[in-house]
Amino acid sequence: MPQENIALFTIFGGTGDLAKRKLYPSLFRLFRKGDLQEKFAVIGTARREWTNDYYRTIVKETLADLKPTEAELTSFTSHFYYQSHNVTDTEHYVTLEKLADSLDKKYHLQGNRLFYLAMAPNFFGTIIEHLKTENIVTENGFNRLIIEKPFGSDFQSASELNEQIRKVFAEEQIYRIDHYLGKEMVQNISAIRFGNTLFESMWNKDFIDNIQITFAEFLGVEERGGYYDKSGALKDMIQNHILQVVALLAMEPPTIFSETSIREEKVKALKAVRIYSEEEAEKNFTRGQYGPGVLEEQKFLPYRKEKNVAPHSQTETFVAGKFLIDNLRWNDVPFYVRTGKHLTEKGTRINIVFKSVATNIFRDPEEPLEQQKEIPANVLTIYIQPTEGFSLALNGKEIGQGFDLRPVKLDFRHSSETTGNSPEAYEKLILDCLNGDGTNFTHWDEVAQSWRIVDVIRAAWDKKEIDFPNYASGTMGPPSAFELLAQDGFEWVWQPDEWYREKGKLS
Ligand code: BG6
Repeated sequence: MPQENIALFTIFGGTGDLAKRKLYPSLFRLFRKGDLQEKFAVIGTARREWTNDYYRTIVKETLADLKPTEAELTSFTSHFYYQSHNVTDTEHYVTLEKLADSLDKKYHLQGNRLFYLAMAPNFFGTIIEHLKTENIVTENGFNRLIIEKPFGSDFQSASELNEQIRKVFAEEQIYRIDHYLGKEMVQNISAIRFGNTLFESMWNKDFIDNIQITFAEFLGVEERGGYYDKSGALKDMIQNHILQVVALLAMEPPTIFSETSIREEKVKALKAVRIYSEEEAEKNFTRGQYGPGVLEEQKFLPYRKEKNVAPHSQTETFVAGKFLIDNLRWNDVPFYVRTGKHLTEKGTRINIVFKSVATNIFRDPEEPLEQQKEIPANVLTIYIQPTEGFSLALNGKEIGQGFDLRPVKLDFRHSSETTGNSPEAYEKLILDCLNGDGTNFTHWDEVAQSWRIVDVIRAAWDKKEIDFPNYASGTMGPPSAFELLAQDGFEWVWQPDEWYREKGKLS
């Protein structure tokens, strides 16, 4: 029987997109599995004037895909309450406190409170301050704060925000969400590394040539132009999700798989990521912005024509770069990263490229050495989404006479969407928070270091205008993203655009 989790959830931004798309369905899945039983209640707050009934109807609508029964819907949504709220008005916190107390009594919640900030960050500080001054944080139960990204917009603003929060919540009460840490295959990185002698023994500069991390998105900015135009891909994806994955790949083995040990190792790994000078940042990072494009007869608008985007915007929708990790394990091994919107396919994956065997004994003894073909590298690929799994490219013998080598791929993959095997990231993270497990959330030290790494790149870029757009929608980014690897003698392992070009689906 799943454990009963007892808490009052207060969701700031209760009418918003995140609440509707992710939070309500995740809470419902937990309810259905019995992880949430009778002792829970949800207060949704936002500016709009909604009644409880209307709020419950909206919550029900967000669950349609999960095909709930009428009885499930009624029983689940009976725990939901709405409170119209102006975050700057102290009076409203008084009302909120009364409602919270009455629900606490009604559902026997033992003073356990979980505050979820799922809204624009400008008011985070104000809300948190009022939670304390109006006594909404309790003395008798647990109080935890879940906070969505962006956590600041650079090191300075993130530090200020952190200081504000720390006046009310201790570090261990703060759950900074990076939803990639809730993804099944991101969590699997540690299983693959530390659960297999094969990889554990080879996970270093002696055997690994380079690591490639791709977070490609097929969609453009869609409805989020207002936010995105101020952020860009560097802050939206590299500072958080990608650097978290770098940390998981690069960290030393924790002594035991616990929140504190993992965190310590991740922080050490991030501290070893080289902070570039601005000149180095220019050399090792490149940016792009999508122009118009056609893929499989689907036409895309350029970024600058998207809703709420400035007509001459200098915001990057694509980043590729190289991180170097200055420690004994990784000295000189490039960690290439790339992410962008309107690329050829949605695909999040990691390619671990091993070194080729030192000598090709299958070579033709007649041919000069320098013309001999190198044996293809072994590549371990971790597929994060939309398919989940991993593959290993090995070399085998071509069937028949002679001794030609042929790469073969051991492949284990399934689609998370079709098998429904993996819980949604938010579902896992909310449950972790209820259980007081902060392993898959980001500690302040990680956030701070990630900003330090990224701030220099931003500062270098802000000094120079780029002739955007520089890649067509539907392609895998600007030429500079390919040159970045070519100048080191490498190439991207995953090039989905080539397949589309060969089939005439992309020009
Ligand atoms: C978010 C970014 O953090 O992650 C979005 O703000 C991006 O711009 C999204 O689209 C990608 O997440 P996922 O889970 O769809 O890969």
